[in-house]
Amino acid sequence: MASEKELTQKTRKQSFQTPRGMKDILAEDWLYYDFILQNAKKIFEFYGFKRIETPLLEEAELFTKGVGKKTEIVGKEMYLLKTKGEQGFLALRPEGTAPIVRAYIEKGMFNLPQPIKLYYFGSFFRHEKPQAGRYRQFYQFGAEIIGEDDIASEVKIIMLSKIFLESLGFAKKDIFLLLNSIGCSKCRAVYIRELKKYYRKNNKQICSDCRRRIQENPLRVLDCKNEKCYPVKEGAPFILDYLCTECNNHFKSLLEYLEYLNIPYILDKTLVRGLDYYTRTVFEFCLDDEKSKISLGGGGRYDKLAEIIGRVKKPGVGVAFGVERLMEEMIQRGKGFKSAKPEVFLVYIGEAAKKMSFKILEQFRKEKILIGENLEKNNLRAQLKNADRLGVKYVFMLGQQEVLDEMIILKDMNSGLQELIPLDKIIPEIKKRLNK
Ligand code: HAM
Repeated sequence: MASEKELTQKTRKQSFQTPRGMKDILAEDWLYYDFILQNAKKIFEFYGFKRIETPLLEEAELFTKGVGKKTEIVGKEMYLLKTKGEQGFLALRPEGTAPIVRAYIEKGMFNLPQPIKLYYFGSFFRHEKPQAGRYRQFYQFGAEIIGEDDIASEVKIIMLSKIFLESLGFAKKDIFLLLNSIGCSKCRAVYIRELKKYYRKNNKQICSDCRRRIQENPLRVLDCKNEKCYPVKEGAPFILDYLCTECNNHFKSLLEYLEYLNIPYILDKTLVRGLDYYTRTVFEFCLDDEKSKISLGGGGRYDKLAEIIGRVKKPGVGVAFGVERLMEEMIQRGKGFKSAKPEVFLVYIGEAAKKMSFKILEQFRKEKILIGENLEKNNLRAQLKNADRLGVKYVFMLGQQEVLDEMIILKDMNSGLQELIPLDKIIPEIKKRLNK
């Protein structure tokens, strides 16, 4: 016999929980996820975006090459898997842009009329420290325009992102667009030299992370959240002052479009984003203000990504939103959903009526009239209790005799009146009463 201690250990093992930083998405959550996806679809599909879904697993090298092995999301947070028969590692996708560019190249989409506009909605994985709005498995809605380097791609992505956020109920005044340009490889190199020089001069005033970052991935020092580093960060050179003529003209043109379209923005010299594939424009959509910023989504231009991962010279621009963050902020702002409630309920007594009930329910489904039922319960009182709880206006009641007579009882729950109705007249009768 197992000892008490062994039994306790066994029981403990049997009560499983979701892994840390991951969550069950329950029915009431899906109302938000669906609403977010439907709004995104309506807006982006109007502009010709088509849905794509890439596998949850990709070759890890896609991300080390494409996103950068020194980035947090790849270097520290990527889930790696060694599977049978695979060469190298597979990774649970930490983000969607590199997989989509991989698909664009693999499927020869560069041979089609350009640009290619794609959107996605699915799970992503990052082994982060779980905290509010930060999960290890989270959903993103994202959109990418690949194949043209015209400013229209950036303008479209930014404009549609803003319309999308407004469609979710966020007030115009609460949405902040933070904007920066990180230039091309040439002007960025000049800037990085200056930045390194400046940080080396201020070496004693910065944290150990920044000391490491300035060697390994210098732009990331601007992303440091350590208060100790703020004064140094504030005084750091501004990348916009180092842009080459082409990058400067590109950025100016974007600002002109945003002004013309009445899309307010804040120039944020510390905005560099955590993924290495960006070139020129980077942006983030935040709530409240840039200090206590809650980043709902972000993106930018990635003109070299296709070349890095597939030797195809095609530029791209995109954005991704964190669905859980959108949902949590919607809840904070009082956005609620009511699930549709049936106004009619069907109860039965006896086996013959139970069988017939399946056919009746199907008639309602085909007519798109919601009807409640509890066919699993053979007890009439239990079924009626359910109808009561839903507060329905009408209850159909079917027993052995009604089945034989091909009739059904219709009870008006307000007046308590009951009448017999022919079984083949159920739908027109209920439509009349519900004014449908
Ligand atoms: P990202 O900034 O890493 O960009 O992620 C986009 C959004 O995903 C964030 O703004 C945030 O709302 C959400 N997010 C990120 N990590 C988590 C997490 N651990 N838990 C919950 N939500 C999270 C990208 O992923 C780029 N691929 C965006 C892009 C598309 N750039 C160009 N095209």
